[in-house]
Amino acid sequence: MSQHLSDAPRSAAAPAADAGHRDWWRDAVIYQVYPRSFADGNGDGMGDLPGVTARLPYLRDLGVDAVWLSPFYASPQADAGYDVADYREVDPMFGDLNDADDLVRTAHALNLRVIVDLVPNHCSDQHEWFKQALRDGPGSALRERFHFRPGKGAGGELPPNDWESIFGGPAWTRTTDPDGTPGEWYLHLFAPEQPDFNWDHPAVHDEFRSVLRFWLDLGTDGFRIDVAHGLVKAAGLPDIGHSEQLSLLGSAPMPYFDQDGVHEIYRGWRRILDEYPGDRIGVAEAWTPTIERAALYLRPDELHQAFNFEYLGTPWDAAALRRVIDKSLAAMGAVGAPATWVLSNHDVTRHTTRFGNPSSALPGGASTGGSLQLREAGDRELGLRRARAATLLMLALPGSAYLYQGEELGLPDVTDLPDEVRQDPSFFRAAGQDGFRDGCRVPIPWSGAEPPYGFGPAGGPSWLPQPATWAELSVEAQTGDPASTLELYRAALALRRELPALGAGRSVQWLDTPEGVLAFRRDGDGDGFLCLVNLTATPVVLTVPGGRPLLASSAQPPATAGPSDQVDGIDVTIAADTAIWWAI
Ligand code: NOJ
Repeated sequence: MSQHLSDAPRSAAAPAADAGHRDWWRDAVIYQVYPRSFADGNGDGMGDLPGVTARLPYLRDLGVDAVWLSPFYASPQADAGYDVADYREVDPMFGDLNDADDLVRTAHALNLRVIVDLVPNHCSDQHEWFKQALRDGPGSALRERFHFRPGKGAGGELPPNDWESIFGGPAWTRTTDPDGTPGEWYLHLFAPEQPDFNWDHPAVHDEFRSVLRFWLDLGTDGFRIDVAHGLVKAAGLPDIGHSEQLSLLGSAPMPYFDQDGVHEIYRGWRRILDEYPGDRIGVAEAWTPTIERAALYLRPDELHQAFNFEYLGTPWDAAALRRVIDKSLAAMGAVGAPATWVLSNHDVTRHTTRFGNPSSALPGGASTGGSLQLREAGDRELGLRRARAATLLMLALPGSAYLYQGEELGLPDVTDLPDEVRQDPSFFRAAGQDGFRDGCRVPIPWSGAEPPYGFGPAGGPSWLPQPATWAELSVEAQTGDPASTLELYRAALALRRELPALGAGRSVQWLDTPEGVLAFRRDGDGDGFLCLVNLTATPVVLTVPGGRPLLASSAQPPATAGPSDQVDGIDVTIAADTAIWWAI
């Protein structure tokens, strides 16, 4: 099959609302570090901040612009640190505040920005406020900072409403009064160890404004805001009237998510961010029913970026990807925000594994945060080939991209972890999220022939076991091998910095292509750039108007001169599940 790519754009994304303002975050590549699993500085089997700091030169050399660290605050770790007991302390398992300071300074010296995670929807049940609220009993001032309610039923034995926890089971847990009798219930959208704050209370607002300043004063460049859509609950906490509520998440309005009241909170936070020099940013983790609703968090006086979960949830399908790309560019363009792109994070099955499974294996696909988890390894080779192509597609799109640690090594999900080593709280609450998040959290292989593959200095076990087959995936094993996934990422990120056509910008010019193939053009400073992606299982030949290949996601046959009637054309064969970057 041969297809000539004319220069005529078939459709273009929405025009810029404000293309003139170009800040670092508009085209940044931001690398997510999951501190438990990145690098273990003290050999206790658990990653830590000194471990991260020691590996920052690796990230600089990889070519990313910023690092986002998942929570490292004082926490009983009921949800791997997303249950914070003290927002101004580092948990001893990760180090201390000096280590955080050292990390930020070292990163800045290497020209890397640092974004930290902020968890404002809920805290830990070991947070001082919550412990005091339990001690003080019903009617106490501290209880007003959370959602405490009497139960329904004659003896208060039923939860106050029908809300279900994202991790399964009711979103309410009953307390025991100081005198030992059953007492009020409290709301927790996630685990029982994660009580939700009451954002109608001014003390909660004051506290988080102060926490923002604490980390901004320490020099961090911004925040990834956990459950940014959850802070405000509908007045009166109304019933939903539907069981299996998780199937509605992300696609239907919910009384505990995406309430209009959240926006005023972010306006206030934006004012704080803007007080600080150096473009500090807020990034929303907001699961909203539509991309347009997500864009509301990015109006000029609110946050800077939001994760594009619809993109993350899109299967390896040309038409579906094109649709979500156009929709994202249009929605974000309408509020003057950059689109963002992401393929993996610490909550979902790694994309190498997702793409190696039939997309029907993912119940609910894009719409539900909890259903992007798989227990099947699938076809590893196919998954990796598609993952590499997906990376070149993502990094060629206008806007900012998020990488999740280990994807640059092509790591698969560890789908066969024995149940007894799992730690994901949702795994233990069977009715909730699928609970297989541990599989993407296995520590990174850095070097050597056997576990822990340089993850820690000693030969001890890592907190989650690494597969015996990961030596060949280590940073050491892949470095210098031009066919490796690591070198593909390094080359792509270097080109992204070099080529004026890549990075920020609002539009892509789609070119005519056969079914299952995507091709778009971007231009910068007189240079043309094409991204060609064959998502089908057979090679295709496209005719491009001249130029040369820059990078391919798989070994490629050489381009040949075009047929005689197309003086300027060059036929390019694109192998199955392959992306090519092309300069014209
Ligand atoms: C989203 C985080 O990414 C996830 O890991 C966590 O379990 C929930 N929010 C609750 O904080």
